[in-house]
Amino acid sequence: MRKIVIAGNWKMNKTVAESVRLASEVAAAARDVQNVVVVVAPTYLALAKVADVLQGTKVKLAAQDVHWENQGAYTGKVSADMLKEIGVEYVIIGHSEQRTYFGETDDTVNKKVKKVLTLGMSPIICIGETLAERQGGRLESVLTTQVNGAYEGLSIDDARRTVIAYEPVWAIGTGVTATDDEAQQAHAFVRSLLAKLYGDELAQSISIQYGGSMKPENAAGLLAQKDIDGGLIGGAALKADSFLGIVTPGDTLSK
Ligand code: PGA
Repeated sequence: MRKIVIAGNWKMNKTVAESVRLASEVAAAARDVQNVVVVVAPTYLALAKVADVLQGTKVKLAAQDVHWENQGAYTGKVSADMLKEIGVEYVIIGHSEQRTYFGETDDTVNKKVKKVLTLGMSPIICIGETLAERQGGRLESVLTTQVNGAYEGLSIDDARRTVIAYEPVWAIGTGVTATDDEAQQAHAFVRSLLAKLYGDELAQSISIQYGGSMKPENAAGLLAQKDIDGGLIGGAALKADSFLGIVTPGDTLSK
């Protein structure tokens, strides 16, 4: 059975004090959620304080990025050991904003994924096509390159601990969501790529989240799709009630 993972990606939003407040609201509201893994990803700066707030609650902590080296002269970066020490369990890797603005490549995604797995955390590997790629008929080739790149050199046991977020770039922060069918088709294709790499049993066990303007109004339709196992949520995760409006429909799901 696959886990339903609903993760809030707070991006570069919320001061430390605001993050602490939002994390407590999310933790309180998530108290009765069953069968769903609820995750929040604050900024690096707020991680330690949010970790304290989440102690003893059901909500898990994620970082928004990581560096692949252990330590050293990498100004502005944070290592996986540092994240692990304060209780981070998931790390978002390869987000399209990282790819677009900060030079993330499939190769750096792969290095980060390996480092995070080595330390016992789970990567949330983000993939997805731009509008031009979709319209140019390149959806499948883009997803194939991204998945093969991210999983290069990973054993089946490593792969088992990953989560994928399929996020069509044209749907992120735009208010335009993929239709239930468009999303389902892309998710099924991504699962078929995992099956090619690791076999069907593994492919059936990996959670594949949808991301891109997911909100309470469209979450139930998306989460009802056979291959959609949760969400990576930006804008709607910045308020506890809209975030938990997405979590609640997932409550009854199991796949
Ligand atoms: P959005 O962001 O929900 O604001 O579209 C999703 C994401 O970037 O992970």
